[in-house]
Amino acid sequence: MTESRLSERINRIETSATMAVVAEAEKLHTQGIDVVSFGAGEPHFATPQHIKEAAIAAIQANFTRYTAVAGTADLRDAIAHRHNVDFDSDYRREEVIASVGGKHGVFNAIQVLVDQRDEVILPVPYWVSFKDMVRYAGGNCILLETDEAERFRVTAEMVARLITPRTKAIVLNSPSNPSGAVMSAQDMTEVVRLAHQRGIWVLSDECYVYLNYRDKNFSVGGLREFKESMVVLGSLSKTYAMTGWRLGYALAPAPVTSAMAKLQSQSTTNPTSIVQKAAVAALKGPQDCVEQMRQEYMQLRDHVVKGLRSIPGVTCNMPEGAFYAYPNISAFLGRSGLKSASDLAGRLLREAHVATVPGEGFGTNDHIRVSYATSKAELDRGLERMRKFLAAL
Ligand SMILES: Cc1ncc(COP(=O)(O)O)c(C=O)c1O
Repeated sequence: MTESRLSERINRIETSATMAVVAEAEKLHTQGIDVVSFGAGEPHFATPQHIKEAAIAAIQANFTRYTAVAGTADLRDAIAHRHNVDFDSDYRREEVIASVGGKHGVFNAIQVLVDQRDEVILPVPYWVSFKDMVRYAGGNCILLETDEAERFRVTAEMVARLITPRTKAIVLNSPSNPSGAVMSAQDMTEVVRLAHQRGIWVLSDECYVYLNYRDKNFSVGGLREFKESMVVLGSLSKTYAMTGWRLGYALAPAPVTSAMAKLQSQSTTNPTSIVQKAAVAALKGPQDCVEQMRQEYMQLRDHVVKGLRSIPGVTCNMPEGAFYAYPNISAFLGRSGLKSASDLAGRLLREAHVATVPGEGFGTNDHIRVSYATSKAELDRGLERMRKFLAAL
């Protein structure tokens, strides 16, 4: 079938750059090549035991049928309760929808809020999927350029400059994928206040909210007075090392969660029943696993940043959250015919067998994303290969 016979809508978007790298690295791996993977954005930890046991118990109890589209009452209450306790918010069951992963929640939220030609303000660097999801909905992304020297800071003044009569939403993602930047509670509050005053939605993707190494964890969901202007998006993927289980959620005014449920009822229906049971166990059970993982990520972050900064020509901001470093590799562009971060990441993968994600997918040309959710030994192996490869350019 030729591309022209596909819908115009599907031709507007691209395959996720992150997924593309993972696929290429896997291809090399199946050829027997030992690839060090800094590409995938997923925890290297196993899902905690009590969560796995809840899923097994759900299967044994035959909890294997359809549930309510937005998730069981038990799960929606558990999501609201966890968020309310951790962030001083006041969400009720009607304001919660569970989805098949956080990405599905973001997708549904954008589909129900963004119309043709609506403008969505998107700070750079951005998570790859935001742009394509907005485009798929027919909207236009208005890129908000940030300054690496200012730790990619986003302020209300910067947002205000981009607001037009067509502005429908602003996307926030703190801690950020890909940069690991964390917005201060004050900056976030000011952006939310501005959006609220101007009748603009805030889509706050907080899937790394528990992986903050700088401040006390902060969710805009705690800003109760602005609740009617916000959609808070979360996921169990990173918090509880559950990427393969596919469970995410949105917290939003009830008309938004109802609209998202309507869309979901025509696509996936409910998230997997047994995963919902596991999610309740995760959210209601002991939370020390979350803190243990955070502590380990923090050590890995210090290790990888030290290693990256020791490579001549590489500079790197200290990421303050999530599990990504976003080194600047612009010193190498122009050497050995390298024109772009994609060129560099491609050759790094093919010649040195280290998988990273080029910055272009995130809206910047001078960086590669290094996921450090792996062991120290694996970080060292990859860093050594990078050092040799870059030195030879
Ligand atoms: C910023 C951001 N949002 C959402 C997601 C989606 O995660 P999941 O669909 O696994 O819950 C990711 C995953 O990498 C992410 O980085």
